[in-house]
Amino acid sequence: GTSGGTDRYEITQRQATARILPGVPTTLWTYNGTYPGPTIESRRGRPVTVLHRNELPVPTVVHLHGGRTPAESDGYPTDLVLPEGWPDPASRRRRHGTAHMAHDPRAVTSRVTREYTYPLDQRAALLWYHDHRMDFTAPAIWRGLTGMHIVRDAVEDALDLPCGERELALMIADRAFAADGSLAYPALDPELRDRPGVTEPYAAGVLGDVIVVNGAPWPVHEVDAVRHRLRLVNASNARHYRLEAVTDDGRRLDLVQIGADQGLLAAPVTHTALPIAPSERYDVVVDFAGLRPGSRVRLRNRLGSGRTREVMAFRVTRAASDHSTIPKALCDDLPTWRRSQATAVRRFTFRAGQGQQGSGWYIDGKPFDPSRTDVRTRRGAVEVWRFTADVHHPVHIHQTGFRVLSRDGRAPLPYDAGLKDTVSLRPGETAEVILRFDGHRGRYLFHCHNAEHEDMGMMANLEIV
Ligand code: C2O
Ligand code: CU
Ligand code: CU
Repeated sequence: GTSGGTDRYEITQRQATARILPGVPTTLWTYNGTYPGPTIESRRGRPVTVLHRNELPVPTVVHLHGGRTPAESDGYPTDLVLPEGWPDPASRRRRHGTAHMAHDPRAVTSRVTREYTYPLDQRAALLWYHDHRMDFTAPAIWRGLTGMHIVRDAVEDALDLPCGERELALMIADRAFAADGSLAYPALDPELRDRPGVTEPYAAGVLGDVIVVNGAPWPVHEVDAVRHRLRLVNASNARHYRLEAVTDDGRRLDLVQIGADQGLLAAPVTHTALPIAPSERYDVVVDFAGLRPGSRVRLRNRLGSGRTREVMAFRVTRAASDHSTIPKALCDDLPTWRRSQATAVRRFTFRAGQGQQGSGWYIDGKPFDPSRTDVRTRRGAVEVWRFTADVHHPVHIHQTGFRVLSRDGRAPLPYDAGLKDTVSLRPGETAEVILRFDGHRGRYLFHCHNAEHEDMGMMANLEIV
């Protein structure tokens, strides 16, 4: 609903049963009973409040990924929304004495409901919201706590991009199912243990063998033979994809990238295959013109094998007129920070580590601790952050967009164009990004967005002062 210049939404987090696989029910954790949750559409600069009500059996936290959000609404991992009857976290910690759940005196918990406020004073982009509870983000996302949030603005309105039915927001994820249709996750029920043991294949990140797009396995979507705008988000816990659009006769269609995590590129970049790491978004235009009615275009994943090679398909229905255009220049509002402006160069290593609680995934050799400040930065300062990885780590920073400056000392890849909030580090790689925190002050995070790595400690605190 709308009132007083603010859009207000109410979301109930509850269990719901869905038909994902034919013939068997799947119980999910949902936002408002659906998976994905409701797609919210907003205008830049028009604030949104979302009143979340937690009817799930566990505490939850909501984070709007890619949002420039005041700290109290950013979904800090200890700012829990406790369900009815759940013991106060401080007393629970005393009873169980878990070392891992370090005491966080700054946590602001709420009981059953919490209102999140999003100013959305930021570029048009596909954002997504998901659970962010400390140590339990991965199983919560796996069980369904994800949704999309589209921000629009006048810059984008001025372009004639494909719109209406020709604009598709596609949330791609993988899941595994037991024979009875229930979701299979290799960790034991997290509520029966304080922390699942770090065992393979859990430690590498959990993969599923069913590819689910907007809640449906390998869907087939009917399209007119015209340009379509595909707004892709990889909401998988750990799976990387390398997407290509292939016609019946084996031809690869161009994927014309017009936007990245944080909105439009300056100019389109044409790919024939597009890698997408967990939490990344790509905004691409695919032209189905000239394809025979009845023919199919398969969106395939070159990194998959067997059935994870397929993602979804488009079935061409008919020829139609197309007034969309992809201009050579898309926008001119991208930040142009230069290395010479940087007042700090920070270095971080993302590696497997060994700690008191066993092995995990650490940043600079340390597991996440909410009571430690890892980075203190000044609002408005331009900085270079240099990340080094042992294996694949998609590194995400809250509260900013950044530009990729280099990979292993060389120019960034074609996929790195535009303003990003996640950079996909390849094994052994060092990548540099340039950024500026120019919005709110307060306590935020940066972390690996392999959800299992994140839960196993690969997260750090960022204090913007
Ligand atoms: Cu997508 Cu810290 O989150
Ligand atoms: Cu985020
Ligand atoms: Cu990682």
